[in-house]
Amino acid sequence: MRIKEVANRLGTTTRTIRFYEEKGLVKPEKGANDYRNYKEEDVKELKGILALREVGMSTVQIKKFLKGEVDQFSFLDMQRSVLYEEMIQIRDMIGVLDKMMEGDLTGSEDTMELAQKLKEIKQMRKNWKDRWDFDAQAEQYDENIKTTGYGFNVHQQYEEALTRVRDCINPLRHELGLDIGVGTGNLAELFLDRGTQMIGVDQSERMLRVCLNKHPNIDARRGHFLSLPVSDKGVDFVVSSYALHHLTDEEKELALAEMDRVLINGGRLAIADLMFENQATKKSILQQYLDEGNDEAIDAINDEYYADRSRLVSWLIDRDYRVETHQFNRILHLVFASK
Ligand SMILES: C[S@@+](CC[C@H](N)C(=O)[O-])C[C@H]1O[C@@H](n2cnc3c(N)ncnc32)[C@H](O)[C@@H]1O
Repeated sequence: MRIKEVANRLGTTTRTIRFYEEKGLVKPEKGANDYRNYKEEDVKELKGILALREVGMSTVQIKKFLKGEVDQFSFLDMQRSVLYEEMIQIRDMIGVLDKMMEGDLTGSEDTMELAQKLKEIKQMRKNWKDRWDFDAQAEQYDENIKTTGYGFNVHQQYEEALTRVRDCINPLRHELGLDIGVGTGNLAELFLDRGTQMIGVDQSERMLRVCLNKHPNIDARRGHFLSLPVSDKGVDFVVSSYALHHLTDEEKELALAEMDRVLINGGRLAIADLMFENQATKKSILQQYLDEGNDEAIDAINDEYYADRSRLVSWLIDRDYRVETHQFNRILHLVFASK
């Protein structure tokens, strides 16, 4: 088949096809007079290339994809996550633009403030880094959380906390839930047992792999607390355990905004995590560890961002959630909210 015929069949141009040839993505056989002879398999490959370009992949990425140098599902999953992030970013920009148009456009303080806030949010999304290397922890995670006997055990009452998250959400069979920072799927599993469908989001590819091996029914998605790869009002409830404390206080508020975005009206939200009731209790608990000579506890707390529960609660109440809290031990709390 000649290039023109292929272009007509695929609704594209000969120029586009030549471009992919130059990039080495498609290599048709050369026939007499140097004409390219496209076979059905070349056309099939071109169809794939055109589709991948439409979802925003670069030619370099497509090359890796076609050569099988990457796991194709993970690659598409990652691209979905990138697109969600762009979508959320663009929506934020439009929101600010609308506000600018309502007010004085000529560099007023309000306008500058809005633009500055937007910039900070973009940077927050871009700058979050996995300092704890969860990929490296994935295989051993389920074993490690059973380890006790150290001076500081963050997983004390782990199972009780997860069960309580499930019980306060009280999932129904037809519902769809989202577990953020799903890890190896221990919390999501409790919902699957009730017949609920679960999406599990995590930034760690290897955590997701372990999770999928254990629970093939979880819809595991690569993604981030700060730009969830889930549509608006796409889930009935959101849960999370032992994950939010990897975000700073400012990042946590952005994460709550994302949870709010993906929850249906009347949705529920439950977070079990390491936190302090407020700044005063944080101070007094740190003093208790200090008095006990428990440096391990102090180092561990300082290495992460245990939430100030009162800040989470205020954020939720300000957005009309009804909120209940529960404290399991010095550092482990639950926040349950319904809208
Ligand atoms: C300590 S594990 C908890 C896993 C599971 N929820 C549990 O209770 O066993 C924390 C998980 O949160 C994920 N995580 C941490 N920060 C994240 C972020 N900003 N976005 C998405 N996932 C995150 C990590 O990759 C890891 O899998």
